[in-house]
Amino acid sequence: MHNPVDLEISRRDLLVATAASVAITAAPPMANAQTSEPETPFSSKVSFTVNGEVRDLDIDTRTSLLDALREHLHLTGTKKGCDHGQCGACTVIVDGRRINSCLTLAVMHEGDTITTIEGLGKPGNLHPMQAAFVKHDGFQCGYCTPGQICSAVAVLEEINANVPSHVTGDLTAGATVTADEIRERMSGNICRCGAYSNILDAISEVAGRQA
Ligand code: FES
Ligand code: FES
Repeated sequence: MHNPVDLEISRRDLLVATAASVAITAAPPMANAQTSEPETPFSSKVSFTVNGEVRDLDIDTRTSLLDALREHLHLTGTKKGCDHGQCGACTVIVDGRRINSCLTLAVMHEGDTITTIEGLGKPGNLHPMQAAFVKHDGFQCGYCTPGQICSAVAVLEEINANVPSHVTGDLTAGATVTADEIRERMSGNICRCGAYSNILDAISEVAGRQA
């Protein structure tokens, strides 16, 4: 039978030992600290066109395009959601194709033409897709919205580029696209507010989709 004082001591000893082991684990290894080299400068120059303007950067080669846009060019309309290619909040259009800017390095885009939400339209002169999102309440908190709109603009360009040659007359590719195809093409853009039905309405209107 343990006496209560013994139990208290052993519990305190255990806590001290645990704290010590955590401190040891968290501390930088002394050997490495003593032998580590000064950090290598990994910077490189890159030049690309953003929203019609040539931008030259001397940037850490490990910088994502997303961080280059937000932190270096201060184009904060492009949002960082997951930073892992899972949410689509960082979608921008590069040479006509939509990409997740968190998944690509800025230095890989030498000479490229990049369009962000700021380049699509401005207050008072909105892009038709921006105006449609406003009209149809295609957002709630708005965090995913720049990515949704960039993606939607590129989706319609993808659809129009793939219009079958037999589609003629006054039918446009957008008019023939189904709601399911728009949903599928937009499936990389997540909206935590669940504004999906209004987003679909906005895109459908711009596409001129037949109900
Ligand atoms: S921030 Fe790029 S996909 Fe989520
Ligand atoms: S509007 Fe809030 S995440 Fe889409």
